[in-house]
Amino acid sequence: MRTAVARLPRRLRAGVLVAGGAAALVGLGGCAVKHAQGDLVNGKKLFVAKCGSCHVLNRAATKGTVGPNLDQAFDRALHDGFQRSVVREVVEKQILYPNINGVMPAKLVRGQAAVDVAAYVGYAVARQGKDTGALAAAVGAAQQALATEQNGALTIPANPTGQLLYTFKNAQAKPGPVTIQSPNKSTVPHDISIQGNGLNQNGPVVSNGGTSTLKVTLKPGTYTFYCSVDAHRQAGMVGQITVK
Ligand code: HEC
Repeated sequence: MRTAVARLPRRLRAGVLVAGGAAALVGLGGCAVKHAQGDLVNGKKLFVAKCGSCHVLNRAATKGTVGPNLDQAFDRALHDGFQRSVVREVVEKQILYPNINGVMPAKLVRGQAAVDVAAYVGYAVARQGKDTGALAAAVGAAQQALATEQNGALTIPANPTGQLLYTFKNAQAKPGPVTIQSPNKSTVPHDISIQGNGLNQNGPVVSNGGTSTLKVTLKPGTYTFYCSVDAHRQAGMVGQITVK
């Protein structure tokens, strides 16, 4: 398989030269203006929810590894002098018409939503620094510190916007029977799994408002909780339960 970077400049050129001649370039200029009006905040929210489970994009803090790292994919082209407006074009085309033999589903977002996502990706890829202001607030604080067991129930939700994270980094419980539950509002499938101190169990994989539940008996010590779907654990869906 050719790398994303090797493939990219050719695709970008294809985007620019589509019909050839000045008319095509004028057309592209019009598009670029329209795209410049894409809603970056909405684009970021949608990117995190619909794309982030498969793609790394630093500014969106997404860590999916199923598809190419988008910062790396476009870094080279930007260095070679391609405009961010052209990157937006390529991203929108990829959203609407991905390789039919490829892994990426077509039209995860459509219409204005696709324009918004392409605008955000065009803005954010391989850009130094961090998002600020409304863009920084778009997806909220990703994680809180500690989930605590209450009356035998320990709740560790998956990130509701589809980030590969639980909303807690760590959890605490008392020894004895505990029901661990992980509600998942996002469309990205997750489970809650537990490992350590003699236990090794997976809850059911759920999405779209389902709850992955595990009934276990905990002994004093530490356990690891994680998501067993794809590479979600490596991407950051992992934490520790301290039992005492
Ligand atoms: C199920 C995983 C998956 C999801 C979800 C996904 N992609 Fe992809 N994407 C891929 C894969 C895999 C590729 C590599 C080409 C292929 O197989 O189609 C790719 C390729 C790309 C490329 C081209 C990169 C290059 O180097 O040529 C862009 C841009 C892109 N995706 C953007 C997006 C955006 C934006 C979204 C959300 C609307 C998204 N992807 C959602 C898996 C995914």
